[in-house]
Amino acid sequence: MNDVDYGSYETTVEQSKRLEKAIQSDPSSFRVLTGDRPTGRLHVGHLFGSLENRVRLQSLNVPIFIVIADYQVLTDRDHADNIDDNVYHLVVDYIASGLEPEKYRTYIFPHSLVPELNQLIIPFLTLVTNAELNRNPTVKEEIQASSQQQINAGMYVYPVHQAADILFCKATVVPVGKDQLPHLELTRTIARRFNIKFKTDTPVFPEPQPLLSNAPTILGLDGSQKMSKSRNNAIMLSASEDETAKCIKTAKTDVDRLITYDPINRPEVSNLLLMASLCTNEDPHALASEIGDAGASRLKSMLTEVLIEYLRPIRKRRQELEKEPDYIRSILKNGAERAREVAQKTLIEVRRAMGMIYE
Ligand code: TRP
Repeated sequence: MNDVDYGSYETTVEQSKRLEKAIQSDPSSFRVLTGDRPTGRLHVGHLFGSLENRVRLQSLNVPIFIVIADYQVLTDRDHADNIDDNVYHLVVDYIASGLEPEKYRTYIFPHSLVPELNQLIIPFLTLVTNAELNRNPTVKEEIQASSQQQINAGMYVYPVHQAADILFCKATVVPVGKDQLPHLELTRTIARRFNIKFKTDTPVFPEPQPLLSNAPTILGLDGSQKMSKSRNNAIMLSASEDETAKCIKTAKTDVDRLITYDPINRPEVSNLLLMASLCTNEDPHALASEIGDAGASRLKSMLTEVLIEYLRPIRKRRQELEKEPDYIRSILKNGAERAREVAQKTLIEVRRAMGMIYE
């Protein structure tokens, strides 16, 4: 058996481009699964980086399963504070941003509500070695970044749980960022090893492919790292218009008054231009020349105006949804019901393949 190949990024980029074309030409032959950890409210980086991509796939009528990975939150911290509140607001952010479970085949559920999914973890754990889990580069980084006194075993095995998240519904496409690629490679390995070890006429699991977002990464307002709430450099979807304006005022820029779009040499200014361009659908170079030598303050006031405008309908919807807790809970309940139907079917196939049907 070959070791898990934690992979080359360049080949994945190429494959992902081909996959995107294949989805465009025959959307309903694919099944998408993606997910988030419920660790807090979502921000503009999530909106442009992943939410809008999901909304786009949804409107192509691809079935989309969205797992809210509540158990995963327990792997890198010593407390379980606010998980329910975070799950609730994650759904609010999803729906406000345009996911529509009532209209499309979009299913949103926390994995703790789908016992059959979790049961897949046990056989899956027997298909990987400790050494492979220890080598996972994303887990290594998370251990480095963790504030825990002691790293719990969940940290090492959550990628196997994630494989269950993906394989329970036999997903073929997983939209992910670069940091999740090792988990996807592990998932593909588990699918392959399962099909070989428990051979049936037709293989139980497909090998899912990663779909890298072609949306550019949005940096935080400090311009140095990815936008992230914990780095305190984010514009939250839940912020008010005044807070948004204040937040943008604090954004880091540089001393050159002439505004140009140059992501390598001027990351801070370029990131602001990029956000403005995503809101207006105008080329960032064109926006830069409109501002010319009016400087960073003009750039900031322009971004404030277009971003507030862009977020207005999302924020209005957010406020309405916050008053409808029963509706939000019903989204999770319906999503989990559908996920359970699918997971039960898969678990029966898995038990049959393993020779564990006794009735
Ligand atoms: N690990 C992902 C993250 O931290 C969340 C996640 C859980 C996920 N299960 C998944 C992502 C399945 C894609 C597919 O963001």
